[in-house]
Amino acid sequence: MIELRKITGDNIDEVIELEVGEHQKDFIQTTNLRSIADAYVLNADGIPATPFAIYADEVVVGFLMYDYDTLDHESFENEVFYEKKSYFIWHIMIDKSYQGKGYGRLALEKMLTDIETMPYGEAEYVALFYRTSNVKAKTLYASFGFVDTGIIQDDNSMFAIKSLDTFHSV
Ligand SMILES: CC(C)(COP(=O)(O)OP(=O)(O)OC[C@H]1O[C@@H](n2cnc3c(N)ncnc32)[C@H](O)[C@@H]1OP(=O)(O)O)[C@@H](O)C(=O)NCCC(=O)NCCS
Repeated sequence: MIELRKITGDNIDEVIELEVGEHQKDFIQTTNLRSIADAYVLNADGIPATPFAIYADEVVVGFLMYDYDTLDHESFENEVFYEKKSYFIWHIMIDKSYQGKGYGRLALEKMLTDIETMPYGEAEYVALFYRTSNVKAKTLYASFGFVDTGIIQDDNSMFAIKSLDTFHSV
C-alpha cells in the first residue's frame, strides 16, 4: 500500500538519504534536502508548499512536493491559464532501488487525489515541468492527462498542465 506522509523527525533522515540513479540526476536538478528547504522558503513567502515522504508498506521509498501558486510567469502571458491559480508539482522521485514497481504511478495518483480536495484553495490547474529527455516521466504524466504546453525553458524542461475541471480543456 502506498501512503503519503508529511515530513517529520521520524522520517526526515530516510527521505534525505533517498537517491535517484546517476543518469537521472540531470532530470531533477535538485535534492530532497534542497526541496525541503525550498518548502520552508515558499511557506515563509506565503506560498503554501508541502513536502511528503512516499511510503510503500511502511518503508520510505520516495519523496514528492507540491505548492499552490499563481501561473503568472511572463512566458505564460498569451496562455489561457495565465494568472490562474494552480497546484504545482515541485518534485517527485522514487529511490533508484524501488523504481519500476508501480510506486511512482500510485504516489502521483495519491497526490492528485489530495490536490483535488483543494487543500490550500481553489485552483483550475495542476502543472509541472519535466526534462524533455525524461521519457518515463513524460509517459507517466501524459497517462494522467497532463498536456505539453510547448513552453520549454532553457534547460529543456517542458511545462505541462492538467485541468482540474474534467469538463474544461486546457
Ligand atoms: C519518474 C519516477 C517518479 C516514476 O516512478 P517509478 O516508480 O519508477 O514508475 P512506475 O513503476 O510507477 O511506472 C510509472 C509509469 O512510468 C512509465 N514508464 C516506466 N518505465 C518507462 C519506460 N522505460 N519508458 C517509458 N515510460 C515508462 C509508464 O507510464 C509507467 O506506468 P505503467 O507501468 O502503468 O505503464 C521515477 O522513475 C523516478 O524517481 N525517476 C527519477 C526522478 C524523476 O525523473 N522524477 C520526475 C521528474 S519530472
